[in-house]
Amino acid sequence: MARIIGGLTSSHIPAIGNAIARNLFEDPYWKPFFDGFPPIRAWLDEKQPDVAIVIYNDHGLNFFLDKMPTFAIGAAPEYRNDDEGWGIPTLPSFAGDPRLSWHIIEQLVGEEFDVCSCQEMTVDHGFTVPMQLFWDDWQKKPIRTVPISINTVQHPIPSPARCYKFGQALGRAIASYPSDQKVVILGTGGLSHQLDGQRAGFINKPFDLMCMDKIVSDPELLARYTAHDLVREAGAQGAEFILWLAMRGALQGHVQKLHGNYHVPISNTGAGTMLLENAD
Ligand code: DHB
Ligand code: FE
Repeated sequence: MARIIGGLTSSHIPAIGNAIARNLFEDPYWKPFFDGFPPIRAWLDEKQPDVAIVIYNDHGLNFFLDKMPTFAIGAAPEYRNDDEGWGIPTLPSFAGDPRLSWHIIEQLVGEEFDVCSCQEMTVDHGFTVPMQLFWDDWQKKPIRTVPISINTVQHPIPSPARCYKFGQALGRAIASYPSDQKVVILGTGGLSHQLDGQRAGFINKPFDLMCMDKIVSDPELLARYTAHDLVREAGAQGAEFILWLAMRGALQGHVQKLHGNYHVPISNTGAGTMLLENAD
């Protein structure tokens, strides 16, 4: 049976993609952020997961405001990246795992999560930036991926509680997959940030740190916030925290924080990086 060995969190700010392309790992502005990743890369190198399930939000590359699924799951053999206009170099495709994707889709629909299945899907910075951060050698040793996009862009967005339950159903789907696979789940985006409007630049460090603490010990407390609570406390785009809650819902074993890093501000965003181990 497949096993979820851990959950990873990362911001997905597009500027990080540019900093990676320009090798700015030692630059004083970027170093405190990039320094959060080597311990997680070492853990991944030791554990060698077979598949990464990447929970992110599409920001307008694959879905736009005219068609916005609440939950969309990739079921393609590969996922193309494309130019979003940020000046980030376009990356080679990421490998998919259609058999696992369809198993997850069938199980989730069976549990009354009516997802949008995508046999073609382009993946934007929400997916590519965390993949590059966690696997700096992904082009040499491609890991199979299943992208899951949750709407955080156009209201009404799903509630934190719904996303947590979605994650729990995702966890059950993976546990019932009849193949000996090691799986990690990524929750990307967040933490507090607001990109436009009167509160542009808004950051709430105490709230971010509370979220990084409770996501380990009491995710159900966080799942009681409404989507609008998140917008108020963490900014309009801080609502991306629902992606972390979906990841956390999938971890229903003994969950332990092995590593965490918080750095603010990069691109006016509270950037949280975490490794949560999920033991049986
Ligand atoms: C930015 C974009 C994002 O999608 C995000 O989550 C954080 C920051 C940005 O444009 O700076
Ligand atoms: Fe985002």
